[in-house]
Amino acid sequence: MDATRYSTGAIWLHWLIAFALAAELALGFGMPKDASGFTLYQLHKSLGITILLLTLVRIGWRFARPAPETLVGGFQGLLVKAGHLGLYAFMLAAPLTGWAVVSTAPIDVPTLLWGVVPWPHLPLADGLNHTLEEAHELIAFAGMALFVGHVLAALYHHFLLKDATMARMSPKGAAGLGLAMLAGVLVLHFGLVAALPGHEEGEAEEAAEDAAPAPAASASAMAEDPLAEESPAPEASASAAAEDEAAGPPPSWAIQPGGTLRFTADNGGTAISGSFSRWQGTIAMDPENPAGADIAIRIDLASASIGDATQDEMLQGGDFFNTGANPTATFRSTSVEKTGSNSYRARGTLSLRGASRPQTITFTLGGSGARRQVSGSATVDRNAFGVGTGESAAGIAPNVRVEFSFGATSQ
Ligand code: HEM
Ligand code: HEM
Repeated sequence: MDATRYSTGAIWLHWLIAFALAAELALGFGMPKDASGFTLYQLHKSLGITILLLTLVRIGWRFARPAPETLVGGFQGLLVKAGHLGLYAFMLAAPLTGWAVVSTAPIDVPTLLWGVVPWPHLPLADGLNHTLEEAHELIAFAGMALFVGHVLAALYHHFLLKDATMARMSPKGAAGLGLAMLAGVLVLHFGLVAALPGHEEGEAEEAAEDAAPAPAASASAMAEDPLAEESPAPEASASAAAEDEAAGPPPSWAIQPGGTLRFTADNGGTAISGSFSRWQGTIAMDPENPAGADIAIRIDLASASIGDATQDEMLQGGDFFNTGANPTATFRSTSVEKTGSNSYRARGTLSLRGASRPQTITFTLGGSGARRQVSGSATVDRNAFGVGTGESAAGIAPNVRVEFSFGATSQ
């Protein structure tokens, strides 16, 4: 064995990992952090764990076939060793923190390596999720800095010091092949960066995360578009109301922009909470005499987000809302009664995921006259609708609390 060169195995592991990391870093920053990034995010997990496994093999290999002595001695030699140690630390810490992030995510997304091999979660508390995300990102930045320094040092040795550094880490000892590998790593990395869509979205998402809950802007647009096929024709509700109430049809209310529709469920001690950004409704109700009221709300289930956008795809899948088959949920009141000076109870039917069941909603009205603030809540038994089947929902409590708040003006 030549003690001045890296062994062939060490060389191939070095370059294999360099290519994988170049792709992994581009993926990490470039994968959209919303549901559209789901496939890339799965790829990021598989490739990241593969890097972890390759790194373990590489470290084992290094013990079996020790690296050649550094070409420079003294303080510089120490720097080289520290730099290499830092790179090994990065190769371990980046995938380990990534694995910890997915292990502590509020909704458990199972990891299937390359879509095939089930990969377990680390037993860590969910509360650590946000910190781990920050750590994972920070380590990626630190790793890139080391990576850049490492490549510059290699080029410096090759072109300025003209020593054997590059050659001894190159296949067949040919420095030209090493330089070709370097070019390949850069082409792969920047090619992926250019091809992946997610950079701006990632930042926009972060900004949104830090800001207050985004106003449900689309609720307003949708509120203008009446529930054509579901709401009763105005005459129909008028005649129904007239039967109940001689005073004529109850006034109808327009839902104002900026309302919120949120949901919360306990997940093994911590709360998962999220919101729907697209929903609409028609409300006909006389606050003084709600008996003839008619309330219809329709929710676009694909607009559900729990804030950790990479997981929202899970909510749309077969285990949760199955939005492909049932894109909307509707609530339609059958009776509304006054329970206090400004509080009400609406009974009706909730249709979700193909099932229709009785559902009660309570709410209060603030304000007066033609401008009111509506806030209320409901407790939904998710199992009655088959939402949250399968392992990923095992820790989630059966009762989901739904809360809403919006302004309404009488038309
Ligand atoms: C893509 C361009 C890269 C080039 C041109 C390059 C070049 C080199 C060279 C020439 C050496 C031998 C150093 C010596 O003889 O002292 C080396 C070693 C090393 N490289 Fe790279 N490298 C690259 C990418 C990476 C990446 C992405 C990593 C990991 C994050 C990495 C980690 C290491 C480590 C840990 C060593 C020391 C191996 C040991 O002594 O066990 N390299 N690299
Ligand atoms: C060598 C390995 C890895 C590197 C270099 C790496 C790098 C990155 C980078 C740069 C980001 C983007 C950070 C941000 O913009 O916030 C990221 C995000 C992420 N990575 Fe990794 N990663 C690695 C391994 C893994 C592994 C093994 C997993 C899981 C099994 C993983 C899971 C994640 C997750 C869930 C996110 C998104 C976090 C968020 O929503 O902010 N990563 N990764």
